[in-house]
Amino acid sequence: MDKLMVRRGNPLHGEVSISGSKNAALPIMIASLLCEDVVTLENVPDIADTKNITRIMKTLDVDVEYLDEHTLRIDSRHMTNRCADCEEVRKMRASYYYLGALLGRFGSARVAFPGGCNFGVRPIDLHIKGFEALGAVVSTQSIIEMKADNLMGARIFLDFASVGATINIMLAAVKARGTTVIENAAKEPHVVDTASFLNSMGADVKGAGTDTIRIRGVRKMHGSSYAIIPDQIEAGTYMVAAAISEGEVTIRNLIPRHMESISAKLREAGVRIAQGGDWITVSGRDCRLRPTKVKTMPYPGFPTDMQPQMMALLSIIQGTSMVNESVFDDRFRYVEELKKMGAHIDVEGHIAIVEGVDRLVGTEVQATDLRAGAAMILAGLAAEGTTYITNVEYIDRGYESMVEHFRDLGADISRVSDDGPDLKLIKSVAV
Ligand code: UD1
Repeated sequence: MDKLMVRRGNPLHGEVSISGSKNAALPIMIASLLCEDVVTLENVPDIADTKNITRIMKTLDVDVEYLDEHTLRIDSRHMTNRCADCEEVRKMRASYYYLGALLGRFGSARVAFPGGCNFGVRPIDLHIKGFEALGAVVSTQSIIEMKADNLMGARIFLDFASVGATINIMLAAVKARGTTVIENAAKEPHVVDTASFLNSMGADVKGAGTDTIRIRGVRKMHGSSYAIIPDQIEAGTYMVAAAISEGEVTIRNLIPRHMESISAKLREAGVRIAQGGDWITVSGRDCRLRPTKVKTMPYPGFPTDMQPQMMALLSIIQGTSMVNESVFDDRFRYVEELKKMGAHIDVEGHIAIVEGVDRLVGTEVQATDLRAGAAMILAGLAAEGTTYITNVEYIDRGYESMVEHFRDLGADISRVSDDGPDLKLIKSVAV
């Protein structure tokens, strides 16, 4: 099994360009099945999760072809299979988007239960309630099975502004008869991007990015060419990397508006940030870092997907910081790994109290999930000695060429395999 090996080196310095957003690419790829036509998607991130989605598509008789590393042609004209039940579906959370897309296209769907990162209970009851409100009969025995004679628009109030439920209901509702209104909708950039993509295929979705989304059903959709937005969380991860290594990094090809809550917290912690049209420069050089309080919230709040990376930074800032995780009920599992490196963190329910230490110390830690894996790399950049990170597959799911990017910025990081007697350097993070 591969590991990452990280050694504290020089402060990071240079530029990094951000890939397409994972959490936009996954629903958009699946949403393309709604149009019974050909879709070309640009800026698709080259990560394990997008590859997984294409594998599932192939089992549904969809023609999927990479025109280049980041451009995908999806031809679903001859698709008849409406049952997504393979290993890949059970591996990832976002496979739940097949429910909405298949229901919207065929009026019925059979999809295996989704997997994904484990941050406690991750139910899909809000998705199901939404589908039922649109007229679907849903059964959740060994597989999720849905059928609707006629999908009808409905008014749906979400108990929580769930990203997955908002997008999934949009996918089914674009082809329903009449108008659907989603109240307390999620406002994340990937929700807006999915709505824009649906509109590019002829859907009528208004209000994405606000609390209320209105979807007027259309009978037919058509093919489209669409470029996916940059990844907010990948960009945020490199921002923290610049700060924790006391370096200076310019992050290009991002949307600064999407980064505001992350920039605000880093500034509050004493990090210097400058920004232009599609770039942000983060400097941790000669900064007096201050302890900070962070509370994760749905967008435009501080993203839960940046919580572990921020925790790595706070763990080396002198004084007492506090992290309140309000989105997921169990997203502090990785804290035990940071503690192995010498971090002083006490977790009580949704709250983590961090007493900053002078130095972390490298040791073997595991990536307990995707963003926790990124946090281990960040901690390793600041730690004395060598940090080995196992369960690298989690990181491969969501970060394109991360080892190469960090090496380009001057980090001492390699991917190693301990299959043989010698640690073998593997140049690319190929999946
Ligand atoms: C998506 C993202 C994930 C991110 C999360 C929050 C994808 C593929 N994943 O996950 O990276 O961390 O948004 O920004 O885009 N909930 C319910 N019932 C439901 C649905 C959700 O109780 O039916 C709860 C969840 O358990 C959680 C909260 O709502 O506590 C937020 O979940 P949600 O926004 O749906 O996250 P995901 O779509 O799973």
